Amino acid sequence: MAEWNKAQLKVILIGSSGVGKSSFMNQFVNHRFSSLYRATVGADFLSKEITVGHRLVVLQIWDTAGTERFQSLGSALYRGAHCCLLLFDVTSAASFSALSTWLQEFLLQADPPDPTNFPFVVVGNKTDLENREVVSYKQAVTWCQEVGAEYFEGSAKDDVNVDKPFYAAAKAALQHYKKHT
Ligand code: GTP
Repeated sequence: MAEWNKAQLKVILIGSSGVGKSSFMNQFVNHRFSSLYRATVGADFLSKEITVGHRLVVLQIWDTAGTERFQSLGSALYRGAHCCLLLFDVTSAASFSALSTWLQEFLLQADPPDPTNFPFVVVGNKTDLENREVVSYKQAVTWCQEVGAEYFEGSAKDDVNVDKPFYAAAKAALQHYKKHT
């Protein structure tokens, strides 16, 4: 496929500390998982090439720190984003309640041209854990419908539904930007 046809998409991963953003990105890009927790300092990024329909897409995935301390980096990081993955932990009600603030803060700082239709995908992570029903599937889907986001739940640990949210985000971003270019 011709090089000019390759789309570059900037994908931002946000959500509270410890929900599994780094793990999700590592499983998707490197097919690796570690149980050790090392908080992200500032932000990291990895690239991965995927095919969406007949289109070659390079995803530049930004894994951001969930701690308050680094949230001032927001606008520099978020600007130019094509889509956003909002992560929470299905065993943590607090991480689910925080989604709304993450979403609003993202829109404020990224300042995209059409905020109402900006492509968000929500991921409920850690479904491998026993207390996975702390936030129910229904509860999560209802919230996602309200904000117009697609919902997936899975596990970075067991590699369940890790690829799907990235493909869905890329597809939504391609559609969104076709309308705006
Ligand atoms: P910050 O960098 O602080 O924002 O955290 P983060 O959201 O990047 O979380 P991280 O990926 O570092 O994961 C936090 C902890 O949760 C680590 O101990 C991971 O091993 C663990 N973890 C991540 N995903 C899963 C999962 O799907 N299942 C289980 N059981 N543990 C997970």
